Amino acid sequence: MKKNPAVEREIHPVVFREPARNGSRPVLITGGAGFIGCNLAHRLLSMGNAVIVLDDLSRNGVERNLKWLRKTHGEHMRAEIADVRDGEAVRDAVSNARQVFHFAAQVAVTTSLDDPRRDFAVNAGGTLNVLEAIRAQADPPPLVFTSTNKVYGGLADIALERREGRYEPRDPVIRVHGVSEDRRLDFHSPYGCSKGTADQYVLDYARSYGLKAIVFRMSCIYGPHQFGTEDQGWVAHFLIRAIEGSPIVLYGDGMQVRDILFVDDLVDAFLLAQRSMDRHGGTAFNIGGGAGNTTSLLELLDLIERIHGDSPDVAMQEWRTGDQRYYVSDTRRFQQSTGWQPRVGVKEGVTRLHDWLVDARSHAKARARAEPARRVAAVSALTAPSEEAQAEGSA
Ligand SMILES: NC(=O)c1ccc[n+]([C@@H]2O[C@H](COP(=O)([O-])OP(=O)(O)OC[C@H]3O[C@@H](n4cnc5c(N)ncnc54)[C@H](O)[C@@H]3O)[C@@H](O)[C@H]2O)c1
Repeated sequence: MKKNPAVEREIHPVVFREPARNGSRPVLITGGAGFIGCNLAHRLLSMGNAVIVLDDLSRNGVERNLKWLRKTHGEHMRAEIADVRDGEAVRDAVSNARQVFHFAAQVAVTTSLDDPRRDFAVNAGGTLNVLEAIRAQADPPPLVFTSTNKVYGGLADIALERREGRYEPRDPVIRVHGVSEDRRLDFHSPYGCSKGTADQYVLDYARSYGLKAIVFRMSCIYGPHQFGTEDQGWVAHFLIRAIEGSPIVLYGDGMQVRDILFVDDLVDAFLLAQRSMDRHGGTAFNIGGGAGNTTSLLELLDLIERIHGDSPDVAMQEWRTGDQRYYVSDTRRFQQSTGWQPRVGVKEGVTRLHDWLVDARSHAKARARAEPARRVAAVSALTAPSEEAQAEGSA
């Protein structure tokens, strides 16, 4: 695959035009080939919207998501293989959008530690490109940006106790509701700094320029189309390893607690955020499974064993930079503002992801046997508009 986005665009020009679908302009999703992006794209497309996906396909495996979107929704989904660091490509995509969801990011703390400059350029610089492109529009489209709980730092000051194999806060309010948006910002790790910078820029563009923009500070999201690795997407990573029968490394003691949110519930929240933009623009919300959907890492391994019949072998290692012993999102601000509630519990969600992964792997094996297609051919198929689409676009 060619990595130069400018070259990609030359080879596979994507014609931006007002699609007739639904009578309205498309929704732009940066990072739309990724796990969260493709789930949102699928929902929007299924509801009859046109969608532009802008993605540089730098995350391993995501071209499969784009291929799936193309196969399922045809030309209603337009793919722009471009880098958010490319201001011109971002301006082009934004100029035709009715709404923007900005997800494209360098997503791993570990990678940010290896290459903080790139992490900053993509996460902070890329977000500034999106904001500037929106600001330049006569009728700026509303924006939802995905930030992270990492903006609250290590939370070392929250006194914890160990109870029944997991950490629990001593503070009764945090124990019952989790960590709220009133928590002071404390960026940890280059990833925390770059996402936190972007988070603050988005809120400030709402304040300084009147853009309609909402920030989601998200904890762990999981679900189908997630290619989890040790560095990011740990629920999927644990499941994949269990299915493969290979070991995992647990950093820390495994008693760290997280709230986890199934991606369908997150997509509901995105749609509600866009709908409530007039009332809640300029606001940051903590979004996650909340106090009703928590698990420790060790508890998740137990659940995986019950679902799959086996769990991966575990090697324990020291805590990593920026690891939080406890993080649960207090989602009451968003719930009270919009009526949103997560509907998929931990057991149901993990089972659904497990079943999807098993299914996807058997399909992938069958495909590999049938046609060992080269990746570059796959990318061409994803991005080149069909002959009919080209004919329509040039009219
Ligand atoms: N998944 C989670 O648990 C979680 C938690 C908190 C925040 N987030 C945020 O949500 C967003 C989406 O995360 P995800 O889990 O879907 O990750 P993902 O890696 O599956 O998706 C990110 C997508 O962005 C693309 N991308 C990366 N760099 C790019 C660039 N320079 N230009 C264009 N595209 C680029 C990747 O190819 C990928 O398709 C990210 O902003 C992430 O920081 C995710």
